[in-house]
Amino acid sequence: MGIFVTDQQMIFHLQTKQTSYIMAVKNNKYLAHVYWGKRIQSPDISHVLLMRGTCFDVMEPTEKEGEETCSLDYLRQEYPTGGDGDYRIPALEVTYADGSRSCPLHYKGYRLIEGKTAPKGLPAVYAGESEAQTLEIRLEDEDRGLQVYLLYSVIEERDTIIRSVRLENHGKEDVRIQKIMSACVDFEQSDMDMICLPGAWGRERHIERAALRHGEFRIGSSRGASSHQMNPFLAVMEPCADEVHGNVYGMNLVYSGNFTAGIEVDQLSQARFYMGMGDDSFSWLLEPGEEFAAPEVVMVHSAQGLGGLSRIYHRLYRKNLIRGRYRDEVRPVLVNNWEATYFNFNEEKIVSLAKEAAGLGIDLLVLDDGWFGKRNDDTTSLGDWYANTEKLPNGIQGLAAKVEEEGVKFGLWVEPEMVSVDSELYRKHPDWCLHVDGRRRSECRNQLTLDLSRNDVCDWLIETIHSILDSAPISYIKWDMNRHMSNAGSALLPAKRQKEVPHRYMLGLYRVLEEITAAHPDVLFESCSGGGGRFDPGMLYYMPQTWTSDDTDPVERLFIQYGTSLVYPVSAMGAHVSAAPNHQSGRVTSLKMRGDVAMSGTFGYELDLNAFTEEEKEEVREQIREYKKIRPLVTGGDMYRLASPFEGNRAAWMFVSENKMEFYFAYFRIQAKVNPSITRVRLQGLLPEAVYQWEETGDCYRGDELMEIGLVMDVSGDYQSITAHFICKKE
Ligand code: DGJ
Repeated sequence: MGIFVTDQQMIFHLQTKQTSYIMAVKNNKYLAHVYWGKRIQSPDISHVLLMRGTCFDVMEPTEKEGEETCSLDYLRQEYPTGGDGDYRIPALEVTYADGSRSCPLHYKGYRLIEGKTAPKGLPAVYAGESEAQTLEIRLEDEDRGLQVYLLYSVIEERDTIIRSVRLENHGKEDVRIQKIMSACVDFEQSDMDMICLPGAWGRERHIERAALRHGEFRIGSSRGASSHQMNPFLAVMEPCADEVHGNVYGMNLVYSGNFTAGIEVDQLSQARFYMGMGDDSFSWLLEPGEEFAAPEVVMVHSAQGLGGLSRIYHRLYRKNLIRGRYRDEVRPVLVNNWEATYFNFNEEKIVSLAKEAAGLGIDLLVLDDGWFGKRNDDTTSLGDWYANTEKLPNGIQGLAAKVEEEGVKFGLWVEPEMVSVDSELYRKHPDWCLHVDGRRRSECRNQLTLDLSRNDVCDWLIETIHSILDSAPISYIKWDMNRHMSNAGSALLPAKRQKEVPHRYMLGLYRVLEEITAAHPDVLFESCSGGGGRFDPGMLYYMPQTWTSDDTDPVERLFIQYGTSLVYPVSAMGAHVSAAPNHQSGRVTSLKMRGDVAMSGTFGYELDLNAFTEEEKEEVREQIREYKKIRPLVTGGDMYRLASPFEGNRAAWMFVSENKMEFYFAYFRIQAKVNPSITRVRLQGLLPEAVYQWEETGDCYRGDELMEIGLVMDVSGDYQSITAHFICKKE
């Protein structure tokens, strides 16, 4: 059992295999945060919580004799609100009908639920009844009838606590929600670093670490997507913590739209750590009788540094977030025609790619952008989802049949959330896009965003995608999204609800994705947003893999894939071998380096296979054979990061099978150095006594030797890689 409640002292102790999370109710009123960290046994540690105040503090009244007074600005609150003497960042910010923001929340009760709950209409981590337990705590602003339910699901075996929040308006008047955090934790100390994943298009999820300072550090997105620019992940860690050691605390939002997260260090050097929804682009009107569910935050603590934190997230996402057939089944090796042809293709060209692909051992051909309407560049036709018969005289059905005849499966690119101004759809339904009446409809990549806050638009979308999928043998869909929201207004909503559009859009999108993926359980879906602009747990709930970045340069990919792996499993990362010189960076790298980087992901190719020499074809065949052999390790094993490209001229990582009998190791050296010092990489996660044999060389090593002394990496030249597959010979 993962949740212990000591009714007399009103203590809630949430326990996973390795962590404890403890709260206490003080003065029968205030829900306070006591502890989050390494698992502790003691049932009562409420003495940890200090009820105090300091000069200039608004002190709370006491009601019973013997009660200690305190100020809300001092107390480590579990779910703080603004306006009543806590001057720090609130977790919940509302405005009542009289314009006031004061919202004192008092503890009212709790209930335990077997299994895991999920917020209505939103993606969520799932778990069986015996796997998880949920604590629901009710807080209330009695005066206004606003009930706040804090939900904590504990998945003991997976070492995770998943938090979310639900509001119910039991009052008589409207409540406007301005900000609603799904999780908030007050740490007593702020002697910590923070780590986050900023980026840009083509440079997603780079790692940034900095020491906390007084004041606020905030990250977020107001782009209508979780974004390339900042991933919905934030962690704090001990300054001494590294890949292997030290306490690390992570939060990751299961949501694909706007978000906000941050850390505030207050006057007493306490740190408030929060994540959820709500910034200048958010507001939600909650009428009497209505409820609002906020997305989940996956909270992970690790005492084994960032590596430990990542492995917990990876296992959870592989087994309790990603769903459907491809959760456990191997993913096909694919070839995508985008960087091979861009818009310039026809049926003959695609079939010739398929023929070549089959000969190389590739399983699936993906036809990317440009197959529909009159689309020959990015100025037209989004929304007109029927085949461009000038390019594809036999339509998608005819093409898919020919591709299958060559011996590979057929996959298709779509960008369903968008509409081109030059399209039949836009001419027919000019009000179906996000817009503000009377204002310029600002385009990005010559396109507008469909208004998925509208049910009719979502219904049309569901029907359209169903009919494409029903029309031909399509085994895979790449679901792209290539712009951020602007003029985020809807023709159907009243003025007072216009700021709800970005969240209503996400609810609409999630409904669409739920219906489509449920109706086509055998189709493998890969999400994409100009590369990794929506690489988040929300999308992974519907689609087991995401195109990691439009940047396919293997050196750049070392940074992107390393950063992404901080939270997301490699099985979710689309990674392809592309042409040299690389189309984004102009860099020339070997086919080996490109292959080795892409093999640490869901592997594929994205170049003209017909342009390969016979020698290259043989190398590609070998790469595919090798990948298929190591695929279970890469996509299902435990990842250990061994050397960070952010800290030097190299990167290294390894994937170890659950029973530790086998592992795959990859090392990459970026630039050549003359007369370099010896580079040794120490491995991790092995059985110290076991003897492992390097398959390719036949050399044997003991686990402790590999972990304590390591392997020498001897390479010469720029952009080099060494990979190795080891199998345990003797335990
Ligand atoms: C952006 C994607 O990230 C690319 O892979 C490609 O599908 C293009 N869109 C097509 O327009």
